[in-house]
Amino acid sequence: MIKKAVIPAAGFGSRFLPATKAQPKEMLPIIDKPTIQYVIEEAAQSGIEQILIITGKGKQSIENHFDRSFELEQELIRTGKKKQYDEILEISNMAEIFYTRQKELNGLGDAIRYAKHFVNDEPFVVMLGDTIIKSKTPCARQLIDVYSKYQKTIVGVEKVLPENVSLYGIIDPVHLAENVYEIKGLIEKPERDVAPSNLAIAGRYILTPDIFDYLEKTPPSKNNEIQLTDALELLKADQGILAALFDGKRYDIGNKLGYLKTEIEYAIDREDFGFEFREYLKEFVKSL
Ligand code: G1P
Repeated sequence: MIKKAVIPAAGFGSRFLPATKAQPKEMLPIIDKPTIQYVIEEAAQSGIEQILIITGKGKQSIENHFDRSFELEQELIRTGKKKQYDEILEISNMAEIFYTRQKELNGLGDAIRYAKHFVNDEPFVVMLGDTIIKSKTPCARQLIDVYSKYQKTIVGVEKVLPENVSLYGIIDPVHLAENVYEIKGLIEKPERDVAPSNLAIAGRYILTPDIFDYLEKTPPSKNNEIQLTDALELLKADQGILAALFDGKRYDIGNKLGYLKTEIEYAIDREDFGFEFREYLKEFVKSL
């Protein structure tokens, strides 16, 4: 059973400047919770017990968020705010969280290399810290279930519009079973006319410790960075990789438009003010 997750969260967040100049993009809130908290909740709900967050310079607020905050807890008790107290305490109890810092920003593949000792010869989930997936069954759980059946590296994929393939790692699929594909090839951010499909790598992976040997052999490519996609392409030649088309919707908060859409879709689902917000939106749309 998979019990460990790795969350890369070291990137500069340059697509979201200036908001990310002095705060991590992973801490940008969707309504009242930082993005990375949704990711950790997905991990915990998927049965993950230990999480390694790969951070970098200027990311200390992530550690503070998942730590206890005694002054705040005391203040909430003193002022009788029991509900908020429980909520704050729960944040630090969701999983056992470890941290390491990526020394240079040399790409997603390089970041994953920092997880070698943490995963200690066990398969593990990789969950990008700026990507939220809304689904009935948590996305990581869905991928773990596919792994349990096939015991192979699994890449979570989603369908994207043909004009957007150049933003993603794209797979060349062969249908294997319902929502499961054997991967013939993977290519990082291809131009539309050479993309082998519109199935995009969507920020969730199940990797085995074998990946570390392949990451060592992977030369830098796109943006002069070590790409996880390239390491997977090498690994595929030796042991095969599967893709799972998960059931759910992916939200990329790393860019401004994606972030706005996420805020709105999460807001209309809120129990406390979702109805009011919907009514407001309907009126507002009429005025456009
Ligand atoms: C990374 C991966 C890419 C994947 C994408 C999903 O790219 O390299 O294969 O499709 O995440 O968001 P990034 O968006 O970090 O450039």
